[in-house]
Parts: sequence; structure tokens; C-alpha cells
Amino acid sequence: MNFITSNFGKYDGKSLEGYRKLSDFEALRKTFESGPLAVIEEIKESGLQGRGGAEYPTGRKIEQARIEKGNRKFVICNADEGEPGTFKDRELLKNDIYQLIEGMVIVAYCSNAKEGIIYCREEYDWMHEHICTAILKCKEAGFLGENILGTGFNFELSLFSGAGSYVCGEGFAMCESMEGKSGRPRSKPPYVKQEGYLNYPTLVINVETLSAIAAIMRHGTTQFTDLGTPDCPGTKVISVSGKVNRPGVYEIPFGTTVEEIIKLADGIRGGKRVGFVQIGGASGGILTPDMLNTPFTYRELKSKQVSVGSGAVVVADEGDSIIDFLENVGQFFIHESCGKCVPCREGNRQLEIIMGKFKDKTATLEDLKMYQDILDMMSEASLCGSGRTEPVPFKTGFKYFKSEFLNSIR
Ligand SMILES: Cc1cc2nc3c(=O)[nH]c(=O)nc-3n(C[C@H](O)[C@H](O)[C@H](O)COP(=O)(O)O)c2cc1C
Ligand code: SF4
Repeated sequence: MNFITSNFGKYDGKSLEGYRKLSDFEALRKTFESGPLAVIEEIKESGLQGRGGAEYPTGRKIEQARIEKGNRKFVICNADEGEPGTFKDRELLKNDIYQLIEGMVIVAYCSNAKEGIIYCREEYDWMHEHICTAILKCKEAGFLGENILGTGFNFELSLFSGAGSYVCGEGFAMCESMEGKSGRPRSKPPYVKQEGYLNYPTLVINVETLSAIAAIMRHGTTQFTDLGTPDCPGTKVISVSGKVNRPGVYEIPFGTTVEEIIKLADGIRGGKRVGFVQIGGASGGILTPDMLNTPFTYRELKSKQVSVGSGAVVVADEGDSIIDFLENVGQFFIHESCGKCVPCREGNRQLEIIMGKFKDKTATLEDLKMYQDILDMMSEASLCGSGRTEPVPFKTGFKYFKSEFLNSIR
């Protein structure tokens, strides 16, 4: 299935000429012809929801950004992609940077922003030159900079390299890090859209969301909504990894079942059976083998306490232990917790101690109670989405694999 990734392999991802042969910025030209309000309506009609994890309706988000007033306004492309098991944005940046840039200009035009930044994770430093070159080529050709395509619209774009921190994918932490401070979230309100980078209105938007906007404007909303399911239209780019034969990035229509996704990745290595599947990133929920017929849609996954999240699908086989897996997830969050708020900073440390006891089979019923209390406290009282969503795999893991936990009690 190719909609957002339809240009993959059809041109050398570095060549602006190649991109122009496929699509000479048709999406952007259509945008200028239709005007910002009509384009916002089209994006709303497409049902597109943010692909960075928060799942917020994109059309509404751009409309809200348009209303914000300020001497300066920014659009930031979130290319931080720090969620474990997530590498789909990397492929969109590598194979189709021009579609992404086109999406950014469309969003900037619709939201009245004159300045844009691609915030790219440090670990993708090997792509930084590729991104900068594409920006320069677009500027020389009149797709960026002053008076774009003779419309009088100005938009400057630059690249900012992250510094290897997961939390910098959160909007405020990202703004702080770009301002030269330590990358930690701020309390809300005000929100990033109101007082973000340098305290100006800022629209933070994911790589795939921007790429999807350009693809929708080029091919038409109906072509997008014809795919997927009636309540979850379109396609999703996912990263499949773990114990599958062919890990990689796949574009699927919404409604594809988890079982079909595993088949796309050529099944489980060594002919084994599925043990469990984590969806949406390190803070994503866990599905059991008897839930593999769950369709990959926002609503169906939510009914199992799982969310689409970052689009990561990590598959474990029957030999993998859920407790080892969760211990590993916990270690990631201990490493990445920015330490600003107590529930996440201290909750993670206590969780690590308890997970160690489950692993050694020395846990008590009191530890189990503490495990649940800590998770509730983290999801309710943490300052940012990291601490608030981290309990999801621990809660679903316990819910669906209760016997493994109970067998680990002394
Ligand atoms: C700890 C944390 C890390 C995040 N990391 C990313 C990321 O790497 N990429 C991303 O697009 N969104 C990430 N997000 C979500 C962003 O804050 C934001 O919701 C998103 O970029 C908005 O774009 P969208 O509307 O296109 O989804 C993260 C959120 C949190 C709380
Ligand atoms: S929840 Fe964790 S990552 Fe977020 S602000 Fe608190 S300590 Fe930092």
C-alpha cells in the first residue's frame, strides 16, 4: 500500500529534479489556488490525526495555530523520533524529503507562519547534510524563502539537531532545547501553540503528518478516505521490529489486523508463535496472541487499552518473558526521565526495584500493591506525556499476563 510513501523508489530521494518530474509541487500549487481556509477544511475532511503519538486532529490543530497572533510564528517539524522501535520518520526523511518540505510550506501558509525548523534527532546526523541540501535547493528553485511561487508568501526553513534526548520530542522540551536550555517540559497552560519557541506561537507537527498533508493535497482527500475504514480513514506508516523475519517500515491501510501486519513482516523467526505485541512505542500497550485479530485503528486498539502512538509494532515470540520485557522498558524510561517531576523521577526508580523482585521471584503481595499504586500515581500526577503514558505497558502487561506476575510472588 502506497499513499504517503508513494514516491519511495520512484526518484533518487536527493534529487529535486527527480521529485519535480513526479510531482512539481502540485500540492503546494493547489494550496495557493484554494486558499488557506479551504485547505484546512480539506485536511479536516480527510480525518487526518497527528502521527507523532498524541493523535490530535490535524485540521483543527492548523486552524487553531492560524488564530494565534504574534510578531513571529513557527512551524516545527518533529523529527526527533526517539520512541524505541520507531523508525518510520527516518524513511520519510531519507526517501522523500521534498514531500515533507512541501507539507511544511502548506502548513506554514495555512497557519500564517513565516519561519520553520526541522528538529531532527542527533542520531540521524548522517541525514543532516541531505536535509540542508534539500532546503537550499528548494530555496534556489523558489519553493522556500521570499515570494514563494510568486504568491508573495515568505517562509524560511532551517534544520536544528537534537542532542540525543527522548523527552525533547515533547513540544515544550523541544522549544527549551532549541533555546539553549536543558530539554525539559514546561507546565501548561500556556500551550506550545500559544507561547512555544522563544515564547512565540509554535505549531509542532510530526514528519509523517506533514508528509501525509502533502500527499492528501496532491492526490485528493477522497483518494485518502477511500482507504482504511469508515471511522478511521487513510493509511498509516508503521515500523515493525522484534522477532519477525522481515523487520521494516510498511504503509498499511487502517483496519489491517495485527496478525496481517506480522504476516507482512514474513511471520515470526524460527517458525515460533507470537508471545505478545507492543504497539505504539515504549509507552504503548501490550496485546496477547488471542488479540491479533484486532484491526489497527484508533478505536479498536483503544478498546484494548492500546493506542496507535508512534506507529511502532514490536513483536515478541513465545519464548520471551513479559517481565524481562517490561524491565527493559523501565530501564529506558529511567535513562530518559528528565527528572523535573517527582512522580516520574522517583516512580521509575521504585518501579525498577519492584521489577527486579518480580524477576528474582522474591516479590510480595505488598510489592504488587505498590506496583499498581506507583503506576496510578505516575499516570495521574506526572508533568508530561512521558510519565503519564509510561504506565500503559506495565498496566496492560499485568492485566493480560497476570499469571506470570502472580507466579513471581514469593
Ligand atoms: C516524551 C515525549 C516524546 C515525544 N516524542 C515525539 C517524537 O519523537 N516525534 C513526534 O512527532 N512526536 C513526539 N511526541 C509528541 C509531540 O509532543 C507532539 O504531540 C507531536 O509532535 C505533534 O505532532 P502531530 O500532531 O503531527 O502528532 C512526544 C511526546 C512526548 C510527551
Ligand atoms: S514526566 Fe518525566 S520526562 Fe516528563 S517532566 Fe516529569 S520527569 Fe520529566
